[in-house]
Amino acid sequence: MNYWAETMGDTVWETKYRPRIIEDMVLSKENRNLFSKFIKDKRIPHLLLIGRPGTGKTSIAKILIRELGLKHMSLNASDERGIDVVRDKINRFAVLQGDKIVFLDEAEFLVPEAQRALRVPIEKYSRVCRFIFVVNGTKTLDKAIMSRLTKIEFKPDKPDIFDYLCGVLRKENITPDKETKNQIKVIINDNFPDIRAMLNDLQKYVTTGYVEEESKEGDVFEADEVLYNTIKYKFPDGCSRKELFELLKVMKGHGKWHIGNNATDELLKRMEKKKRIKSETKGLGKKGGKCRLIKAIIQ
Ligand SMILES: Nc1ncnc2c1ncn2[C@@H]1O[C@H](COP(=O)(O)OP(=O)(O)O)[C@@H](O)[C@H]1O
Ligand SMILES: [Mg+2]
Repeated sequence: MNYWAETMGDTVWETKYRPRIIEDMVLSKENRNLFSKFIKDKRIPHLLLIGRPGTGKTSIAKILIRELGLKHMSLNASDERGIDVVRDKINRFAVLQGDKIVFLDEAEFLVPEAQRALRVPIEKYSRVCRFIFVVNGTKTLDKAIMSRLTKIEFKPDKPDIFDYLCGVLRKENITPDKETKNQIKVIINDNFPDIRAMLNDLQKYVTTGYVEEESKEGDVFEADEVLYNTIKYKFPDGCSRKELFELLKVMKGHGKWHIGNNATDELLKRMEKKKRIKSETKGLGKKGGKCRLIKAIIQ
């Protein structure tokens, strides 16, 4: 959850404009047709929704669940990542009578054994239980699971986003003038493809008249969360400088390059286990020093 949004409650556009139906969403034509068909047929295959943060994956999963009106179980795999979840929760649910959906948000954070254990229920209960996997990336996803799912990528188009954001302004009784339209374009380019971040920036712009250029609180928070989870999952016994560099490269691929305190704390803890870099981290554990530490390591 975005820090700024959390502190602002329901007046925040990100929440106010959370899509409730498919028509509320920015979607490619292809994806819109596909999802409309699922809703019309009241049927989905097992799905794998892939896309960068803030592109509407969680929103569409929730819309599908609501529109299909089936019993469902929703799990955020970045919190519940272990094999127990599959054994105790998913299997027990999948075996129940009647059509159902299991929704696994942030599924790339499921530990490998948990992913492997999912192969069975995905096949065995396929007739009565459909799975929706939502991921930011597929690097840590079990190949055998992936092959059992219908992949749908989320890549919103800039012109569609532009129209959408102008529409939001109109709903707020603001007619976007030339200057505002230019600003919307800047906001889109700065945050692409993260529509959540764009909405936050746009709201800030119309309330304050400007958008902060640097260090967006929301970005840092979100990147921190992703990195924090990745570190915990990928490097339970510590990591080397090379591994860390690889990880940061992946983060860069996500378009997020800020690193917050949660992640750096975790990172330091993991790295200190490896003697090799212990000396380098000495004395740098203090606030403020951490980001410099990360920079020093990756240089
Ligand atoms: N495709 C989209 N269309 C409209 N709004 C979107 C879209 N993607 C994201 N948003 C906005 O961002 C917020 C978060 O979207 P979410 O579905 O949680 O993204 P993701 O799961 O891909 O990170 C939504 O409440 C909505 O305000
Ligand atoms: Mg999500």
